[in-house]
Amino acid sequence: MSDELIEKISKLKKEKKAVVLAHNYQRSEIQDVADAVGDSIELSRRAVEIDAKLVVFSAVDFMAQSAAILNPDKEVVIPRAGARCPMAQMLTPEVVEAYRRRYPSLPLVVYVNSLAETKALADICCTSANAVKVVESLNSDRVLFGPDRNLAEYVASRTGKEVIPVPEWGFCPVHVMYDSKCVEEARAAHPDAVFMAHPECPPEVLEKADYVGSTSQMVRYAKQSSALKFVVATEVGLLHRLRKENPSKRFFPAVEDALCVNMKANRLLDVVECLAGGGHRVVVEPKVAERARKALEKMFEVS
Ligand code: 13P
Ligand code: SF4
Repeated sequence: MSDELIEKISKLKKEKKAVVLAHNYQRSEIQDVADAVGDSIELSRRAVEIDAKLVVFSAVDFMAQSAAILNPDKEVVIPRAGARCPMAQMLTPEVVEAYRRRYPSLPLVVYVNSLAETKALADICCTSANAVKVVESLNSDRVLFGPDRNLAEYVASRTGKEVIPVPEWGFCPVHVMYDSKCVEEARAAHPDAVFMAHPECPPEVLEKADYVGSTSQMVRYAKQSSALKFVVATEVGLLHRLRKENPSKRFFPAVEDALCVNMKANRLLDVVECLAGGGHRVVVEPKVAERARKALEKMFEVS
């Protein structure tokens, strides 16, 4: 990246009283100019703490929506309107209502990778970092959980509760690329490495992993671990941060082309355009935002 561009970005940030928040899967050049890099919910909380008028949220739609819901007084913009998480679209309010009719007494836990309208119907939200804790906190041995089926199964295995996936088939197209074979191949290629996996991976991968956690939990785990080599089963964008923060350690992707095209839709020049007054303002209808905020705040109380 040229010094000129770096200077332009910092000048625009000052002029607009703006910050750039980037998810761990963003392109490396965006992570490098961001004021904070983190997992889905860390960034929304960071947006609350940071003194700024404009928040450029470089991530996918649902994350920027959560930031807008939790920061009604700030202008939140997303660099590309097309950066939409396909898994979030899999749990529509209509699907939620159908399950509510079928299981009227069960609490509904909605993963933050979901639309604002869906969060608004939840009893409580969760992230990949706190899903186990959230489900444990509920006074029910049976819960509805969506939209990620793999995360639902992982939570069931850790809590012993019956976790009913809503819908039955929700998935992340990136994390379903991992399977037992890729774990075995990684073990053969790097026998002394720690295998870390995101809980959106299939159960056959999670059962064999040495560590399961959200993107930022993996960053923390790698930092404090005495191991020097790690195989990483999540979107490859995380490797940039892992390598940058741990220069003496080595990180290998479990699947080289595990790329979220939605996350990668945001380019550095789009971020610059946002700082210059462009981008796409994230607006959530006030009634929906109010109900979704309650479900997010309940999650914060638990975790
Ligand atoms: P994290 O909350 O772990 O950052 O995960 C977000 C995500 O989109 C995983 O695919
Ligand atoms: Fe959505 Fe999967 Fe991309 Fe995460 S990696 S934003 S869950 S499609």
